[in-house]
Amino acid sequence: MVKPQPVSGPVRKQFLVFGSPALEEAEIQEVVETLRSGWIGTGPKVGRFEQAFRDYIGARHALALNSCTAALHLSMIAAGVGPGDEVITTPHTFAATANSIVHTGATPVFVDVDRRTQNIEPSLLAAVITPRTRAILPVHFAGRPCDMDPIMKVAREHGLKVIEDAAHAIESVYHGRHIGTIGDAACFSFYVTKNIVTGEGGMVTTSDDAWAEKIQTYGLHGMSKGAWKRYSDSGFVHYQVLYPGFKYNMTDMQAALGIHQMTRIEPYARRRREIWKRYDQAFAGLPAELPAPEEPGTTHARHLYTLLLDLTHLKAGRDAIVEDLKAEGIGTGIHFISLHLHPYYKDRFGFSPDDFPNARHISERTVSLPLSARLTNQDVDDVIAAVRKVLLRNS
Ligand SMILES: Cc1ncc(COP(=O)(O)O)c(C=O)c1O
Repeated sequence: MVKPQPVSGPVRKQFLVFGSPALEEAEIQEVVETLRSGWIGTGPKVGRFEQAFRDYIGARHALALNSCTAALHLSMIAAGVGPGDEVITTPHTFAATANSIVHTGATPVFVDVDRRTQNIEPSLLAAVITPRTRAILPVHFAGRPCDMDPIMKVAREHGLKVIEDAAHAIESVYHGRHIGTIGDAACFSFYVTKNIVTGEGGMVTTSDDAWAEKIQTYGLHGMSKGAWKRYSDSGFVHYQVLYPGFKYNMTDMQAALGIHQMTRIEPYARRRREIWKRYDQAFAGLPAELPAPEEPGTTHARHLYTLLLDLTHLKAGRDAIVEDLKAEGIGTGIHFISLHLHPYYKDRFGFSPDDFPNARHISERTVSLPLSARLTNQDVDDVIAAVRKVLLRNS
């Protein structure tokens, strides 16, 4: 009798969602309690979250907002960035980084990244500085700190402000200093896929009292300090509108998640570090470049584990590999398709694909694997099995 051939099915039947966050009972209870309290808007829980974040980073001020995008926008307003100004950043980032520059009326000026670190290349900065340049906006890609010493040096030499996109970088440390204490302001994200989450949410840290005041005021319609309390039992206070502000305030519902997530920053980071190590071991020798090791004297926040596919040794392109992984039950992310390749930036600024060759190289090859602290050992085994299967099948 002929034995039936085993049918090789997908590695997983239940799809593994990329970036699904770890959420625990304490924050679920806190949200429920917040709902029952009758005070679900901006309130004391936001203050508690700000204080915990400030203490963790070691910053003078931490101001909670409803996104990192809002944090970037208001930091630039605090820096006085406006129409006619230029802000230098990298195209190897999420749309929010450059969009927020455009929102101020300023022009984003891109410089390429280093292919290995995927962070802004500091030696390219001086050449693009003009009399219109107001600020440098480095992005700590995947949680790897940018090389801040040369960035700060060139900024100070030219009288420029430094606003850091620290959306991936809550745990990052550079030469003994926490990211969030180096530039003039740093902007963090608590979006659902981030290292800690509030659903949507962001935070600015700064050591400048005037910036802090401006960011807080601009974040709630430009109303004078404490206006959020106007319906509380401390009594109605007349507010004054000081600026044409925005509706960027964080709510207590979001902060209810944040104050408990804060207590797990380090355990979650340890878990991601463990997963990272397993991936590094399992993927050595596959047709893909692994993330570069952490630079000496720094802490990498391990937000994204990105493979750069070796397209010369693969029969399929990146998008086909992503589809294949999906068919195996594994969700992935792409961080990022360089902004200069997107229609708005390409058309508005007339970019060609090769203007930023390293960002383009990464755009065509990168794939991010699940790395959340929520992953079980079985999930990690499945990701490893699927990646090995798909890359070996296509090589
Ligand atoms: C590099 C980078 N900057 C900014 C943002 C924007 O963060 P948020 O979604 O909190 O506005 C993201 C977000 O996802 C990001 O990856």
